[in-house]
Amino acid sequence: MNASPPSVLEPFRIKSVEPIRLVPPARRREALRAADHNVFRLRADDVFIDLLTDSGTGAMSAAQWGAMLQGDESYAGSRSFERFRDAVRDLTGFEHVIPTHQGRAAERILFQVAVGLGDVVPNNTHFDTTRANLEAFGATPRDLPAAEARRPALAHPFKGNMDLAALERLLAAEGERVPLVLVTVTNNSGGGQPVSLENLRGVRALCDRYRKPLFLDACRFAENAWLIREREPGQGERAPKAIAGEMFALADGCFVSAKKDGLANIGGFLALHDDAWAERASELLILAEGFPTYGGLAGYDLEAIATGLEEVVQEDYLRHRIDSIAAFAARIADAGVPIVEPPGGHAVYVDARALLPHVPPLAYPGIALVNALYEESGVRACEIGTAMFGLQPDGGERPAPLDLVRLAVPRRVYTQAHLDYAADAVAAVAARREELHGYRIVSASRRLRLFTARFAPLAAAEREACEGREGRGDAYAGEPARALEDCLV
Ligand code: F0G
Repeated sequence: MNASPPSVLEPFRIKSVEPIRLVPPARRREALRAADHNVFRLRADDVFIDLLTDSGTGAMSAAQWGAMLQGDESYAGSRSFERFRDAVRDLTGFEHVIPTHQGRAAERILFQVAVGLGDVVPNNTHFDTTRANLEAFGATPRDLPAAEARRPALAHPFKGNMDLAALERLLAAEGERVPLVLVTVTNNSGGGQPVSLENLRGVRALCDRYRKPLFLDACRFAENAWLIREREPGQGERAPKAIAGEMFALADGCFVSAKKDGLANIGGFLALHDDAWAERASELLILAEGFPTYGGLAGYDLEAIATGLEEVVQEDYLRHRIDSIAAFAARIADAGVPIVEPPGGHAVYVDARALLPHVPPLAYPGIALVNALYEESGVRACEIGTAMFGLQPDGGERPAPLDLVRLAVPRRVYTQAHLDYAADAVAAVAARREELHGYRIVSASRRLRLFTARFAPLAAAEREACEGREGRGDAYAGEPARALEDCLV
């Protein structure tokens, strides 16, 4: 057999296993009820295949576990920190490397240094923790995705791109309120879509013109680099690490959750050129996270991340990663389920609003789909839509631009057979889509409410009132934020 193996063939073998168990349907229904219909509140033992997130859920390699045994736990000046710092410098080119316990700690420290009350911070799309951290400092996050990002079914190679014209308008009109510009690679909330080098160069040029620092939210930098290699003209022969290096070279700094492309279970970092910002960030680090040579991490975590950053840019790893997600997406799409096209780096995103047009955005079609999928199969997914983003700072609600359900794939954990099972479960739920109904929120916190919210299925009368309305979120475009009760009267 001379043919090269298919790229979905796992480029690793399994040295250590963890049993998983599908609990019976009655137990799943009961577990969901006990969790107040929020899969974040489920016990993980009641989940069969966990696609809630790709964050911190990956399998580490034998090399990573081996490196962890070499961890130097010295409080100050640890050898493991030097290895970690050198790995981050080698990859990103940034001088100052500040370890943190995870990505949101790096965000928080950067924003505390750079962002003030009344500021406006543009991004292609802010992830929910980034958005919440900015709002906590009294700033306004502004999402400026390219127009293609708003059309889930449209196949465009770089739907993560920033809308350059909108960024220029913002910088021209409100530039003095903009302390820095962010770009998220890949654009997680917008469907895991990549940003092109061409677009990053455009953002850089605007940042130069208006003298603004550019920071990458770069937790999926390697997946973005691979998608650039596959999709951007002239990039097909380049090493992923070289492409990632060019992405970082276009920025002034980055914050990274190492729980994604760091291939580690915990960790993150802030890396930047500016001496003064780095000094202030280190002071804040000591206050909340730890001494600058360990941040909130153990020495062995720093070893795991340093090795992970080397492994994640390897071609066979990335080819399998991206191609296995494309195969997962194809199996779902072939069953007639609307997904965000083309599939991106770490997940398949189902367009719940298109799949369930009878469930209006303010009755959370994404939650309806996530819960039905869990009951059907024990597969846990995550809503990225109105439940996550709909709550407005004034306490009202507005439909999110999209109602998506993300099936995020942990790195090196599940085989293609697991993903086939999950895809078939999505198809089975989609086949009885008319039976799915909306939810209301019983109680929720004011920030990051999706993590803790309690939901209840809409009663028949509520459903009738709600489902008689126009189901598409576009129907609400331009309307002021409204309370959920308004949708139900
Ligand atoms: N930025 C992006 C784009 C993210 O996706 C995340 C986390 C963070 C920042 C924060 O990093 O979790 O290490 O503090 N995303 C996870 C997810 C939680 O499920 O997508 P963190």
